[in-house]
Amino acid sequence: MHYNHDYKKIRTELKKWYSIHARSLPWRVKTNIYGTWLSEVILQQTRMNVGVKKWQTIIATFPTVKHLANATEDQVLKAWEGLGYYRRARFLHKAAQKIYNNSSFPESYDEWLKLPGIGTYTAAAISSIIFNEEVAAVDGNVKRVISRLVGLKDPINNSQGSKKINKIAKLLLDKESPGNHNQAMMELGALICKPKNPKCNSCPISKQCTCSNNAELLNKIPATIKPKKIKNIDLIWHLVRYKKYIVTIKTPSEGIWGNLWVFPNTEPSTDSFVKKKTLPPVVHLLTHKRIYAKFYTWEAVNKQELVAYASSINGEVIPIIELKNLAMPRLITKNILPIFTM
Ligand code: ADE
Repeated sequence: MHYNHDYKKIRTELKKWYSIHARSLPWRVKTNIYGTWLSEVILQQTRMNVGVKKWQTIIATFPTVKHLANATEDQVLKAWEGLGYYRRARFLHKAAQKIYNNSSFPESYDEWLKLPGIGTYTAAAISSIIFNEEVAAVDGNVKRVISRLVGLKDPINNSQGSKKINKIAKLLLDKESPGNHNQAMMELGALICKPKNPKCNSCPISKQCTCSNNAELLNKIPATIKPKKIKNIDLIWHLVRYKKYIVTIKTPSEGIWGNLWVFPNTEPSTDSFVKKKTLPPVVHLLTHKRIYAKFYTWEAVNKQELVAYASSINGEVIPIIELKNLAMPRLITKNILPIFTM
């Protein structure tokens, strides 16, 4: 591996290609800081087609940073529903409050980095796109493009590989137009230099690329070290009701579903509750977890017992028809809420 590629030529070809092939994304058509920030947070872990739709509904719900800052956390989590990784939504909300209290958005990479939920990639993307700051934004797409371009043997997810990629990304950056250059790199990764079956014949920088049309190299690069093992988790939730009321409980702020509403895992006493049904178990996959969820339904003998049970576990009694207004994990909205509408 060496660092003396023809970076100028690569930059020029990439720029030409992007000027023709850039997708018309809503935050590119009418660019502002708030929309760009929101798009980058959404796209950290969400595919483009889902991300665009969600971006549009979130912008419609909270048109400005003021609306987002003044919303309750529950409203923000509700709007985020379906995107997963809810920590992003809680950080987005906290960052909006900081920005609103300061009466201005951060204006540099270093300042953006100080906000909750903003890492080096997101800070670089926003400050280059909005403020033309000369920083390279390196996401998964860019890592793939660069590792193939230079034939990087190191895994892209260890520190040595990351350091080399960051160094090349910096050498390659177009200092006159860093925002467009960063987006062009990502766009190339998303549209041409795909993980499987890259379209080398349509690639503007294939002449400079070590792996171009080389199936053997493309198979090996980008190299990765083994990801974490999937962990199995068993969950039991009790759907404890009295007529049209049910008990829900808010999860602690840490953990995968922090601050979302779920059902209690404490079994109610058989003195005052009758066990009605065991629902078919649900298997739900997250990135590093496989969740086996079991649900039992219970009916209280009267409303007082329901209320007493709820308060003993710090839960809340709500009308069943209001469940749909709560921010709940997708495991529940997908598998359990439909049962109540039958
Ligand atoms: N993925 C995340 N941010 C992006 C951007 N600005 N352009 C293209 N792909 C992206």
